[in-house]
Amino acid sequence: MPIPFLSTAIWYGIPGMPSRWTIFCGFLAIVVLSFVKWVSMGTTNTSERKLHGKVVILTGGTSGIGAATALDLASRGAQLILLVHQSPSDLFLVDYIDDLRERSGNHMIYAEQVDLSSLWSIRKFATKWIDNAPPRRLDMIALCASTLTPPGRSRIMTEEGLEETWMVNYLANFHLLSILSPAIRTQPPDRDVRIIFTTCSAYINSPAIGDGSDALKKKEWSPSKAYARSKYALNVFGHAFSKHLDAYKRPDGAPTNARVVFVDPGYCRTPGMRRYLTRGTLWGLSIYLALWQTVWLLLKSPEGGAQSFLYAAMEATLGRGYGGKLIKECREMAFARKDVTDEKIAEKLWKGTEKLIEKTEKDEAVKRSLKKKEEKEAKEAKEAKEKKTSSEKVAPKADSNGNSDSKNAKSRRQKKAK
Ligand SMILES: NC(=O)c1ccc[n+]([C@@H]2O[C@H](COP(=O)([O-])OP(=O)(O)OC[C@H]3O[C@@H](n4cnc5c(N)ncnc54)[C@H](OP(=O)(O)O)[C@@H]3O)[C@@H](O)[C@H]2O)c1
Repeated sequence: MPIPFLSTAIWYGIPGMPSRWTIFCGFLAIVVLSFVKWVSMGTTNTSERKLHGKVVILTGGTSGIGAATALDLASRGAQLILLVHQSPSDLFLVDYIDDLRERSGNHMIYAEQVDLSSLWSIRKFATKWIDNAPPRRLDMIALCASTLTPPGRSRIMTEEGLEETWMVNYLANFHLLSILSPAIRTQPPDRDVRIIFTTCSAYINSPAIGDGSDALKKKEWSPSKAYARSKYALNVFGHAFSKHLDAYKRPDGAPTNARVVFVDPGYCRTPGMRRYLTRGTLWGLSIYLALWQTVWLLLKSPEGGAQSFLYAAMEATLGRGYGGKLIKECREMAFARKDVTDEKIAEKLWKGTEKLIEKTEKDEAVKRSLKKKEEKEAKEAKEAKEKKTSSEKVAPKADSNGNSDSKNAKSRRQKKAK
């Protein structure tokens, strides 16, 4: 009985069922979509390393790829110091850290308020860190924070007068590492110290950067150019910093144990990417939500983006030899632009950046001391005024004959008694 039924179903189809051609097309579509999703999901990290007791400084750990990386590193027992721009009393931050501690089962997660758009804020944190005696343990610095102005928006200037994308994506990392450099190099020789830079293939489209001054010119600015330029500068600086670490002669004669690793996480569905795709507008957000399936299909999850980061943090081979390797899809790749390793470009950029930071910090220090002086003078003037009014209130008032209030009251009392 079933055989004739099956043969009829195969040759003529089941009545009420879609045709074989429709079924075939549906099946093909599922296979193609599954393949696209499988490719876009990216690879999974399989490297392992014991992270218990390791101290990790992480920027951008409150969102997207950085948040996914923070959760994974914390779950493996690393002590995390998140550099965040919120104040420690910010309710979002308190909730976020509590949640991270609960989900990772690790209570060694702390936040330090460091606004990466401010050289002064970075200096305060970094100098406090290196002033610590004995030197603090430091096993990893993961530089995940970044910013991107949505297309069509005008450029944002920081309070210190620097363009925001250039400041957060490049200058902040330069400044932080320049100050922390002695703390990185003094780590005992048995430690495997890693400085992880986050790059992005957008850097390929960057124009030449020279000493970096073009990045601050309004005429030269567009959101995508600013982002590409900042990532290119970060790559050039990362290589120069890697050579700076490699060239260090340790006083104990041991080989250098600190290395730079670059990570390209690939395109992911993070808040940063959403802001970019929606142009930071409500209509953009509606289109994004309407096309959510396409976004889901083509982009990685933040956890997927974190895989190359985890590989860079844990792969044993990256703790040997020279630094400066690029990790993408959990494997070593070559940089698409060879000039990121050019020493002349790096030297020009490094000098230009040092000069810019020095000038900005000096100007800001003058502004701060003037402000402090003004505040002190205003406070003193206010105190003097208050003192004057209170002494007028306490001091007895004299009448037109020169008699004071208390004298008048006394004579009034004497008259009344008579
Ligand atoms: N997403 C992608 O498709 C993609 C592709 C290639 C490369 N990348 C790179 O991967 C990294 C992470 O990207 P993402 O998309 O996950 O980023 P994201 O979601 O935009 O998160 C950026 C992080 O940086 C922090 N941040 C921004 N400005 C700051 C400031 N002034 N001070 C302190 N922290 C600041 C943010 O803190 P708040 O949340 O508190 O503002 C946030 O934690 C970036 O370096 C990015 O360039 C991303």
